Amino acid sequence: MSHGTFIVIEGIDGTGKSTQVQLLAAWFAAQGREVLTSREPTDGPWGKKLRDSAASGRLAPAEELECFLKDRRQHVDEVIAPALAAGKVVILDRYYFSTMAYQGARGFDPAEIRRLNEVFAPLPDLLLILDLAVSSAHQRIGSRGDTANEFEQRESLERCRQIFLSLKDEPFARVIPCNDSIAEVAARLQQAACRAGLAPQA
Ligand code: TYD
Repeated sequence: MSHGTFIVIEGIDGTGKSTQVQLLAAWFAAQGREVLTSREPTDGPWGKKLRDSAASGRLAPAEELECFLKDRRQHVDEVIAPALAAGKVVILDRYYFSTMAYQGARGFDPAEIRRLNEVFAPLPDLLLILDLAVSSAHQRIGSRGDTANEFEQRESLERCRQIFLSLKDEPFARVIPCNDSIAEVAARLQQAACRAGLAPQA
């Protein structure tokens, strides 16, 4: 179905995903590729409900899971699939691996979450898992002045990290240590894209 290039960046809060999404997008654009970046939860109605709930009180587990699935269905249909069909490089800040990790940490079976998603959500060509110890990630969140909201509790982040790391042997996944400078981590992501055959070797 897709002719484009589909890259997903994942990791616990504080690993620097949004910065790296922008740097990787600029790197592909400099090679003359047409790039689309996006994020989940989205800015659509379901995503907005989820973001609001982080501040106003978290939704019940089943309702929260349902909202992430509805948000993603809309994202795939309206944004991701059309961009891939148009041959673009699509780079996402979070995707269904976050649902496996975060809703998995909340008690759902990550394998079942994966199954529910893969019915409608295309597999990425490359999944980049930004990895950082929870204590360092927490420090970074603190140093940005963010409040540690409900999503960002230490213990549940540890469970999330382990679920992300459980994907390390998937053929499309690469774990990227990110306790280094922004530039160094960016270089690792570029190298991973080259090795996966998604960009010419430097
Ligand atoms: P985040 O990327 O941190 O957004 P922001 O930068 O606006 O805070 O995402 C918000 C939270 O949503 C994050 O803590 C992880 C959580 N999340 C899930 O629980 N399940 C999911 O499927 C996704 C995509 C995100």
